Amino acid sequence: MKIVVIGATGTIGKAVATLLKEKGHEVIEASRSSQPSIDFTNASSIDQFYEKIGEIDAIVTTAGDAAFVALDGLTEEQIQLSLNSKLMGQINTVRKGLKYLRANGVAVITGGMLAYSPWPKTSMITMVNAGLEGFVKGAALDMTNGHRVVIVHPPWVAETAQKLGMDATPWPKAAKVAEAYLDAIEGTQNGAPVFVEGYLPA
Ligand SMILES: NC(=O)c1ccc[n+]([C@@H]2O[C@H](COP(=O)([O-])OP(=O)(O)OC[C@H]3O[C@@H](n4cnc5c(N)ncnc54)[C@H](OP(=O)(O)O)[C@@H]3O)[C@@H](O)[C@H]2O)c1
Repeated sequence: MKIVVIGATGTIGKAVATLLKEKGHEVIEASRSSQPSIDFTNASSIDQFYEKIGEIDAIVTTAGDAAFVALDGLTEEQIQLSLNSKLMGQINTVRKGLKYLRANGVAVITGGMLAYSPWPKTSMITMVNAGLEGFVKGAALDMTNGHRVVIVHPPWVAETAQKLGMDATPWPKAAKVAEAYLDAIEGTQNGAPVFVEGYLPA
């Protein structure tokens, strides 16, 4: 399959791209710094990117920012960033990518377990992750041509926890998280959340 991974230089995206290549897929590793580049917060950047890469069998997004700030400290800018980046960036990437998706192709986006188990300071991240799950559920009903749309909800990733000085031992490595993306690509789910094995919602 010809698969584009948007966010391929990141912790999760790099592991997903590596696993997909190991499985024999052709992978286009994309981000704002790739060639061709894509900034999915910018609609014309998404269009130009797809025009350059042409038809694909799968779109994977492992990118997007959302604010990690307590509600009483949230600024308008942080709210807009959360909506424009992780939420609308992924939605627009799927929406605009459909016409480049071959028959039976799949779009896999990234949410996160905070949708199910929020922490303090995560109102924006929790809202965006839950909103993305709602998008996938509804969008699945509009799929034609055998297309599917799926959301992966990663838990904390060990490498990220380590970077933040947290205890990484309870969390899976990015390579393990990548298996959930492979499952979403090679499986039959449509409109459904996919979880990392052993990290299901309580
Ligand atoms: N890591 C975790 O523990 C964890 C857990 C649950 C959910 N998640 C979610 O998973 C996603 C990826 O997390 P991560 O930790 O792998 O992130 P990361 O290491 O910060 O990597 C982010 C990736 O996205 C690209 N990117 C950022 N903004 C972009 C934009 N506007 N357009 C296109 N590409 C963009 C970055 O490359 P450039 O800078 O070159 O554009 C990079 O490749 C995020 O949405 C995060 O919320 C992460």
